[in-house]
Amino acid sequence: MKYEFEAFDPEKIRQVWHQRLLSTEPIDRSGVWRFRELIPFSDPGARIISLSEGSTPLVETRRTGSWAGPVHLTIKHQGNNPTGSFKDLGMTACITRAVSRGIRLVACASTGNTSSSMAAYAARADIKALLFVPYRQISAAKLAQALDFGALVVEVGDTFDEAFRLLREIAPEMGLYLVNSVNPYRIEGQKTIVAELLEQRAWRPPDYIVVPGGNLGNSSAIGKGLRELKELGLIQIVPRVVIVQAAGASPFHQMTAGGSSDLKPVERPETEATAIRIGNPANWKKAKRVLEWTRGFTESVTDQEIFEAKSILAEDGVGCEPASAATIAGTRKLVRAGKIPQHADVVCILTGNQLKDTDYIMRRRSEVQESSQRLRVEPNMEALRQALKQALGHATA
Ligand code: F0G
Repeated sequence: MKYEFEAFDPEKIRQVWHQRLLSTEPIDRSGVWRFRELIPFSDPGARIISLSEGSTPLVETRRTGSWAGPVHLTIKHQGNNPTGSFKDLGMTACITRAVSRGIRLVACASTGNTSSSMAAYAARADIKALLFVPYRQISAAKLAQALDFGALVVEVGDTFDEAFRLLREIAPEMGLYLVNSVNPYRIEGQKTIVAELLEQRAWRPPDYIVVPGGNLGNSSAIGKGLRELKELGLIQIVPRVVIVQAAGASPFHQMTAGGSSDLKPVERPETEATAIRIGNPANWKKAKRVLEWTRGFTESVTDQEIFEAKSILAEDGVGCEPASAATIAGTRKLVRAGKIPQHADVVCILTGNQLKDTDYIMRRRSEVQESSQRLRVEPNMEALRQALKQALGHATA
């Protein structure tokens, strides 16, 4: 979607955005619609379907930064959105658009986050939500969210790619309006993250923005946002966009690392980070242009590397879902390989909330070397005393 933006005075528009932070109007409380000059597609007076998304924290994570680099690391936590993932930014834009066009039924295929977000915004708009998810391949929490919001859930196929292919095939005959990231309004909403991020940094761009890559909608949106901010004179220097995929589901990384210009889909994508278990990303061409334009690059990380990164983040008091921790693991790998210099200014986008996949945490943290964290104790004082003494050692107050 390309706009002929009217000429903005960068200083004035920054002030307008900043002043809206003090407003009590619902439209200004949204971290997407506060930047509405960047998404001028909605009709004046249109009903905005919002859950006060965005306005997510930017947090310095020193311990993780020193582990991953050392780099100056901050995380932008998109898990603090209404349904717990970055998808809410795109969804408010997309559902607002759908409703303004009289659409009564929306559909998507999903690894779990798009679906829970779509279900919430559709409920709010009082329209019907239909989702296609791969059978038993999305986390229980995400499925529960979609059910809670009253969506119709179709479990079909073994992979996201299969569910998405089937949905696209059946959509025309069933008259379905798709809200996957192939829908341009999703990208429009999602791109506002860069305005919010830069505002939080007093408009000083970082050296790198690191994102996990699945269907590659988010990286495309971030690239588009950066490009428009540059064109509008809001930034002069463009951060390099780095996309990290899970090793077992990394067709995009394989393409760039192999110097190829064509994407070869991965037939059976495999990773514990189910959010990004995608073998045939729909937005790869857009993401490729983002890398070219920002001089960005890609990396892939194993499930073990993701777990280690997630554990270090937890030591900083920051939780996230596994797919999000791929950014930290990728940063560490890239610093070690000399592709990101030490002490660089790096922002990792954490895309989903810690509680999105508690099964993963319970499974990983109950493994042999971690199991000393969990005690089952008989309910009497002596047993408790013994158990605590043994577990805490000299750490007692
Ligand atoms: N992180 C999380 C937590 C996600 O849920 C997703 C994608 C990504 C990263 C990757 O973003 O696809 O824009 O490259 N989840 C989609 C879904 C596919 O259906 O929820 P992407």
